[in-house]
Amino acid sequence: MRRKRIWSAAAAVTLAMASIAAGCGDDDDNGDSGGGGGGGGGDVGKVAVLLPDSKSSVRWETVDRPLLQKALEAGGVEATITNAEGDKSTQQQQAEQAITNGAKVILLVNLDSGSGAAIAANAKSQGVKVIDYDRLTLDTDANDYYVSFDNEEVGRLQGEGLVKCVGDKPDAQIAVLNGSPTDNNATLFKNGYDSVINPKFDAGEWSEVDDQSVPDWDNQKALTIFEQILQKAGNKVDGVLAANDGLGNAAISALKQRKLPQIPVTGQDATLEGIQNIVNGDQCMTVYKAIEREANAAAELAIALAKGEEPTATTVPIDNGTHKVPSILEKPVPVTKDNIAEYFGNPDYPTKEDICAGKVAANCEKLGL
Ligand code: BGC
Repeated sequence: MRRKRIWSAAAAVTLAMASIAAGCGDDDDNGDSGGGGGGGGGDVGKVAVLLPDSKSSVRWETVDRPLLQKALEAGGVEATITNAEGDKSTQQQQAEQAITNGAKVILLVNLDSGSGAAIAANAKSQGVKVIDYDRLTLDTDANDYYVSFDNEEVGRLQGEGLVKCVGDKPDAQIAVLNGSPTDNNATLFKNGYDSVINPKFDAGEWSEVDDQSVPDWDNQKALTIFEQILQKAGNKVDGVLAANDGLGNAAISALKQRKLPQIPVTGQDATLEGIQNIVNGDQCMTVYKAIEREANAAAELAIALAKGEEPTATTVPIDNGTHKVPSILEKPVPVTKDNIAEYFGNPDYPTKEDICAGKVAANCEKLGL
């Protein structure tokens, strides 16, 4: 008897809470029940951004986060941005939490395709749209859009940059530091630079000292890997194809620890550290990706979807192994010591003041910066 009364009281409270939630969530129907939501009404769903980590590249926290926040807010949607710090189950929980809190769109930077596909499938089952941000999730039908750069082009620019910096040094000994094997971008970067540097190996103009992938783009692991490469090669390395600025900096640190002379090292992301390395002559090039354009394109899609509208952006179809994902790909550009100043003033590019601070000032002056 007693038990029954408690149950029904609890049920009444639950019911009351549910109706309060339904009543004050939005002004009219908030699509809570069906999961489909949308349909062009006045409702604006929330957008959740899931960033991967803060160590594989400084870009995620220092550039992507503020630019996405700004673009989404400007579009009048409520955005929550979380960072999984490299932990796949954390990212999965962040996705679930976001959906529970009313997210209707997820902007996902996956930690690998398997966990990304699980997040996307769960989202889809609840009527939540998924935009792959920067990294394509392979082998799923649950991603609705993909926004990134032409990542093979990124790799080609790295390969061409290395060819220019190494010049005509005979039998140059080249080491390759690839990104994380779990990141589809790392595969695309490699396809790009291999298309440029493999012919040099095949022609016997260059020799490949080593070719190693760096798990999770972990800079610390890259340092150890490159240490071992130097050890094995008796320090005879004449150039490094490093897939991003963090990996490049790891190679530079290892060279400095051994007091070896500067050699051409590539990079990507136009980070403050990467550009300072270029100014100091430790790095030969980086690839600048206008992240503001990437963030704005992704935000525009997310805002339309959050409002239940059909996005109007022009897309190209990219095959992810399961379906053709409507995609927007921005163009990357190379940065060497000769064109560092070209992008000053862009919100996704380091400032001259930051680059030329402290000990770098003298070298900036030499470059006329
Ligand atoms: C991104 C790069 C970044 C790397 C490590 C890649 O997927 O495209 O910009 O440097 O991940 O975070």
